[in-house]
Amino acid sequence: MRTSTSTRWSDFLLLALGAKDNSSRVLVLGAGGFLGQHVVTTLGERALAHARTPQLAASPALTADLADPDQLAQLLKSSTARALINCAAAASAACEGDPAMAATLNTDLPRALGEWAAREGARVVHVSTDLVFGTEPAPAGGFREEDEPAPVSAYGETKAGGERALLEACPKAMVVRLPLLYGDSYGSGRGASDDLFGILARGERARLFTDEWRTPLPVSVAAQALVELVDGETSGILHVAGSERVSRLELGLALHARRFGDPDKAVREIEGCARADLGLSPPRPEDTSLCTRRAQDILRTALPNLAEGARAALDPA
Ligand SMILES: NC(=O)c1ccc[n+]([C@@H]2O[C@H](COP(=O)([O-])OP(=O)(O)OC[C@H]3O[C@@H](n4cnc5c(N)ncnc54)[C@H](OP(=O)(O)O)[C@@H]3O)[C@@H](O)[C@H]2O)c1
Repeated sequence: MRTSTSTRWSDFLLLALGAKDNSSRVLVLGAGGFLGQHVVTTLGERALAHARTPQLAASPALTADLADPDQLAQLLKSSTARALINCAAAASAACEGDPAMAATLNTDLPRALGEWAAREGARVVHVSTDLVFGTEPAPAGGFREEDEPAPVSAYGETKAGGERALLEACPKAMVVRLPLLYGDSYGSGRGASDDLFGILARGERARLFTDEWRTPLPVSVAAQALVELVDGETSGILHVAGSERVSRLELGLALHARRFGDPDKAVREIEGCARADLGLSPPRPEDTSLCTRRAQDILRTALPNLAEGARAALDPA
């Protein structure tokens, strides 16, 4: 049975990418979220760069409750897009308290998108997560696309279910697994860096794990890769992540150094701690580093190491 989450609404944006036909229009689901806003910005930049006479035409904002199958069907029917990037999801923390809602958004939604894509011959790029792993720490070099998902949370479980459901319905579709993201969240405090700077702005000391490992990526780079992939024909699963495995503490220190360039201030404001020191739930995977060898072969978008990523995320364009 589907769970109604009709109080959750979001914006959708249909961008006419300098073309009068529908072939180059991209529908972004979850356009108002942390990642979705960067995808829309990247699509806009691409449209302006490619159009001889810029004809960027953002549609009136489309809204729908994606947990409601009728509203989703209506949205897809009324949309003239032939390609879609799905950034909509139930966020990690919310899933543990409401697994039914998590399944609706993270599993049933991608299945419905796959059925639509197969029926209409449309292109779908769906965003998933490194947290489909976590039961065991990543092997040397990181998890590869063919490794079997083994999540530890309802979030990871439902995201893994969404990957399977989408690709069963439409094998030509694409699943892009992303790692921990950081960068500008346009004042919403989302993502690893704005979360850290929010803590510091409140005058608190940040405690960051020395024993939790990720391959973090600037959100703007993730958006560029998604836009590149929606234009292409690659199918199946792809790991798009930073090229360096780092601890949460190393990430925080690199971001702090880039923003403030003051090691003494960093010592005052950030301290390392072990995961056992903080009794956090849901269960936190120790190491979900992703192997990006396939992505590096396929993408023109460069996947940065930590120093390059901090620069990309924090330096003004
Ligand atoms: N952030 C990360 O570090 C990270 C890491 C790995 C993978 N990912 C993946 O990246 C994708 C985007 O994540 P994010 O960080 O951008 O999340 P986010 O900021 O929470 O954005 C999720 C979007 O989904 C929308 N949404 C949720 N429920 C909805 C509903 N019932 N109807 C319509 N829209 C709904 C939200 O709208 P409202 O804002 O209106 O609720 C929001 O626009 C997800 O697939 C996530 O699993 C994120």
